[in-house]
Amino acid sequence: MKEVVLDHPLISHKLSILRSVDTETKEFRELASDISMLLVYEAFKECETEQIEVTTPMGKTVGRRIDENKYAFIPILRAGLGMVDGVLKILPNAKIGHIGMWRDEKTLEPVSYYFKVPADIEERIAILLDPMLATGGSAVAAIGELKRAGVKNIKFMAMVSAPEGIARVKKEHPDVQIYTAALDECLNDTGYIVPGLGDAGDRIFGTI
Ligand code: PRP
Ligand code: URA
Repeated sequence: MKEVVLDHPLISHKLSILRSVDTETKEFRELASDISMLLVYEAFKECETEQIEVTTPMGKTVGRRIDENKYAFIPILRAGLGMVDGVLKILPNAKIGHIGMWRDEKTLEPVSYYFKVPADIEERIAILLDPMLATGGSAVAAIGELKRAGVKNIKFMAMVSAPEGIARVKKEHPDVQIYTAALDECLNDTGYIVPGLGDAGDRIFGTI
């Protein structure tokens, strides 16, 4: 499945500020929220809707509704939490699961420490949230955990991705649609995305 790289002046504008070394925690959080909203907008472009009747003050009309019960958003802890607020601004009734994973700094392999998702997750479309898709190790492992829990339809939303991470997810989970606000140049020798934005978790939570 071909990855979707968002191409819009609003995304470019907000990403440039997000990336800047001069952007501090409060603004970083607000931008992460805005970019997440725009990612949801793109990812739901072709989602199913059902017809409903709406009564306006002037009479009746026909509208469309999204069945929010078909979806679950799953942030990968901890940085993925920075995307939840933006998602909930667009879909306020969304169910939220959590997958806890940190990346071993030496091996760059993910270490899993938490998994809690809605009880009926296998009936939902699961949308993983993680601002950074670097080597792809965390994404591949999180997708694997969801598949073992019975999820059949998985999407992955990132703010910044490296070509290496995209290629790894596509190789190991070709059925997963990736949405990313930016596709960067490469990884450096410590597994950070270049030009990237640094450590997303540290920037969101102010732990630098
Ligand atoms: C970051 C990021 C991803 C992962 C990406 O998390 O949020 O989860 O690294 O790297 P990968 O594609 O090479 O696996 P990190 O492990 O730093 O944990 P944190 O969210 O707690 O900061
Ligand atoms: N995790 C981050 O937070 N940033 C990177 O560039 C790579 C992994």
